[in-house]
Amino acid sequence: MKMQPPRGTRDILPEEARQHRHIEKVAFEKAQLFGYGEIRSPIFEFKDVFHRTLGDSSDIVSKETYTFEDRGGEVLTLRPEGTAGVARAFISEGLAQHLPLKLIYAGPMFRYERPQKGRYRQFQQIGIECLGIESHIADIEGISFAFQFLNDLGLDGKFTLEINTLGDPESRQIYKDKLVAYLNLHKDKLSADSLVRLEKNPLRILDSKDAGDREILKDVPKLSESLNEYSQKFFEQVTAGLSKLNIPFTLNEKLVRGLDYYNHTVFEFTTTLLGSQSAIVAGGRYDGLIELMGGPKTAGFGWAAGVDRLAELLDKSLIAEAKTTVGIISADESTELTCIELAHELRLQNISCEFITGGNVGKKMKKAAEKIQCTFAVIIGENEMSQNMLTVKNLKDGQQASMSKQEFFEKASKV
Ligand code: HAM
Repeated sequence: MKMQPPRGTRDILPEEARQHRHIEKVAFEKAQLFGYGEIRSPIFEFKDVFHRTLGDSSDIVSKETYTFEDRGGEVLTLRPEGTAGVARAFISEGLAQHLPLKLIYAGPMFRYERPQKGRYRQFQQIGIECLGIESHIADIEGISFAFQFLNDLGLDGKFTLEINTLGDPESRQIYKDKLVAYLNLHKDKLSADSLVRLEKNPLRILDSKDAGDREILKDVPKLSESLNEYSQKFFEQVTAGLSKLNIPFTLNEKLVRGLDYYNHTVFEFTTTLLGSQSAIVAGGRYDGLIELMGGPKTAGFGWAAGVDRLAELLDKSLIAEAKTTVGIISADESTELTCIELAHELRLQNISCEFITGGNVGKKMKKAAEKIQCTFAVIIGENEMSQNMLTVKNLKDGQQASMSKQEFFEKASKV
């Protein structure tokens, strides 16, 4: 038996788990300000929920899903992302009467990717989906949500926002035709990956990392030149909104995103501090998705943040572990029960404490002071028990005194 987590997965130990919780807490507090409610959808769905929606040529569907047959013969996929599951829930729960609908979720996603720092096969996302708002207001507010969230995490100055528009389906088709015509002229020099994409999803060639492809892309026709009036105006309204809110952004005409369901606005918040895994929040508009899945025509906008990556960026000193206030030391075996009772009562008063075990009183005291870094050590031996008093040492200033339980509770509750 292999005593290791499977490749691309990892154990999130207390220190990092605390960071994840902090990130979720900040996101959910922000969600409340923006009127979002939480959704918890299943971690696995029928395969088609993802395979029919994310695009056959997307990396996720073509090579990254964990798909399996369960014991009943159903073909299921571990969710590689959250949007398709939310769209499925929207249809199966009949949520169309509740539009507009603003939903937030947090949880693990699964992609069979080549693992490296910041890229895992099981990773944690926080995502939002805003359904039923056709107006550019949804895009502006959604991006502003992400911007405020990142700033509240103390990440200002550590990220930039890149934004682009893919236009509506009509504009995109016009562009696709121009793009394919151009790329066909350079077919002999395109990378193998891009040749496949030329057939299946030519837009993805725009963000190719291959040096030869990039050379060809220098003179590629611009998507912005194929936008119809509606798409152009829509994007202008989005960027005007961001400017009004003082949200800095750069236009990146090559930003197309890896999933097929997007139209109009697409964006990524990226950082230069995490090496090649630079996207920390990414998303866009997906007006056709729910209809494609068999639901009513419904506008959609959303994003997802990579929690593992955000945790890497956090200033860890801002979320230091809460210290234990009291270390309880029984000087004799006979006082153990009294000590346990004291611990019980302290915790009922919301005062954190730990029953210190191992070694003599001196050793326990050292442990309380240095390892656990308690503010107080309380020692109970036979004397203390018979006099119904506590010996309390303030481990920060070294002062020691005898006092009643009541007196000590008052002191400890002020820490
Ligand atoms: P995505 O760009 O595939 O979009 O993922 C969003 C974020 O999840 C990325 O920017 C990154 O921070 C994180 N992420 C993705 N893959 C990994 C990985 N293997 N390891 C660690 N972190 C990762 C979506 O998932 C869309 N559903 C976003 C969306 C919501 N669009 C509309 N609504």
